[in-house]
Order: sequence, then structure tokens, then C-alpha cells
Amino acid sequence: MASIINGKEIGQQIRQSIADRVVKLKEQGVTAGLAVILVGDNPASQTYVRNKQKSCEAIGIYSELIKLPEETKEEELLEHIKTLNNRQDIHGILVQLPLPKHINEDNVIATISPDKDVDGFSPISVGKMMLGQDTFLPCTPFGVMKLLEFSGVELAGKHAVIVGRSHIVGKPMGQLLLQKDATVTYTHSKTKDLPSFTKQADILIAAVGRANFITSEHVKPDAVVIDVGINRDENNKLVGDVDFTDVEPIASHITPVPGGVGPMTITMLLYNTVQSAENTLQQDK
Ligand code: GUN
Repeated sequence: MASIINGKEIGQQIRQSIADRVVKLKEQGVTAGLAVILVGDNPASQTYVRNKQKSCEAIGIYSELIKLPEETKEEELLEHIKTLNNRQDIHGILVQLPLPKHINEDNVIATISPDKDVDGFSPISVGKMMLGQDTFLPCTPFGVMKLLEFSGVELAGKHAVIVGRSHIVGKPMGQLLLQKDATVTYTHSKTKDLPSFTKQADILIAAVGRANFITSEHVKPDAVVIDVGINRDENNKLVGDVDFTDVEPIASHITPVPGGVGPMTITMLLYNTVQSAENTLQQDK
């Protein structure tokens, strides 16, 4: 029987401390502000954006939604970002991905000022993260690190195996674990004999985007299993990348879906936004 890592509860604890920082900022005359840009009407993106806005409002962060039609030209989107870069009341800028195909995501992300890149996706943020310098960390892997910390999972010398190599989760996840002295192995869709790698994991991070893909066949007894996936199964039920019923009996710790990693992503977005607002006060000194 694994210990269930409760992301909802841990996220709530962290949100409480962020809310305290929001109050302190207000006492110093600063309302932390996040701008979210949504292009087109992808239903999943609309839900994510709505949740981000609700979470901001719940803890007193100002949130502004800029909703643009699907056919928006890249140049126009870049102009919106440049305006937000210069606004003093906006401390974080998030462009919801994916963008329509005619827009170059790399150009868009690179236009966000690194000082306001609360997603941690810009080349400057990623470079700083690689070098272990102070920067905004991408919210999902940052949230996983908090889950591991709050659950008392030791990382130094442990073998962490990542399944998935996306820019948003897999790649940065490995870096953050490496910085805490884990030994890191990356696996992906072209990896041959995946279970031979995942079976070696003390800490297994599933970020593949395939429902119930990781089964007990992939997991070493007493491993810590972190499920980053959010998928719908054949009955339209929300499930992770890990077959929870199959894996839970052999893991030492496991995150559920929903209620594991999911709530942490928005929590760390709030964290980064408040950090950014606090940074402006430091700069004024
Ligand atoms: N689309 C899916 N996840 C994310 C995220 O964390 N940030 C942004 N901007 N878009 C996403």
C-alpha cells in the first residue's frame, strides 16, 4: 500500500503562504498581476485559463484575460506581449499553449520579458535553470519538486527515471532532479525495452500523455511514482499516465489523478507571479 501524495492538500498549504505574501505586497502598495493570453477557442485551453484566473482571484492576485481570435496574426500577438512587458501593473505574462499553427511559438515565447516569464519557458529562463541560476522555474516540474519535498522523499543519490522529454515537463524535470543530486535517466517514445529502464527507478516520473501507460510491469517495488499525465480513458474518465490500481500496491508513494500533480501547476504559477511582484520591490530599493 503506497502513501498517497495529496497534491490538493499540499497545494492548498502553499497557496496559503502565497496569499500571505499577496497581503504583504498590498500593504506596500503593490497588487500582483497576471496577464493570460488565449488565442482561439481550444476547449481544454479555455478550461485551463478559467482555472488559472479563478485561482488568482481566490488569493487576491489581479488577473487579466486577453482573448484573441484564432486568425490573429503573429505580429499582432507580439504587439500585445510587448505592451504587457511595459505595464507596471502586470508582473506575469502567460501565453496559453498550444497556439494556432500559423503562429511561431518560439517567437512568441522569446518575446515575453524574462522578468515576467512566470511559465519559465523562454530561452533565457531555460538557460538560467540549466545553469542553476535564480529564475522562474516551469510550473509543473517545480510543482513536482514541491510534492517530493513536502512528502519527505530523499533525492540525493537516488535514480530518477523520466518517461517523456517535452520542453514543458520531461526535460526541465530531469534538470531539477539533477540539481538535487539525483542520478537521472531520460526515456522516451524511441526508447527500446522501456521497462528495463523504469524498473531501475527509485523515483519514476510519468509524463508521456498516454492513459494508463505505466503498469506494475514498469515499476520497482517501493518506488516513488509521480504521474504528470492528464488523459481521458475510453469511458471519458480523467486518468493519468499510470495505471493507478495496478501500480499503487507496489509503490512506496504515488500521486493520484486528479488531485496529484494537477493542482500544483497552478499553485506554482501563483508562486512565480507573486515572486515577480516582489522582485519589482527589490529593484526599487
Ligand atoms: N499548455 C499546457 N500546459 C501549459 C502551461 O503550463 N503553460 C502554458 N502557457 N500553456 C500550457
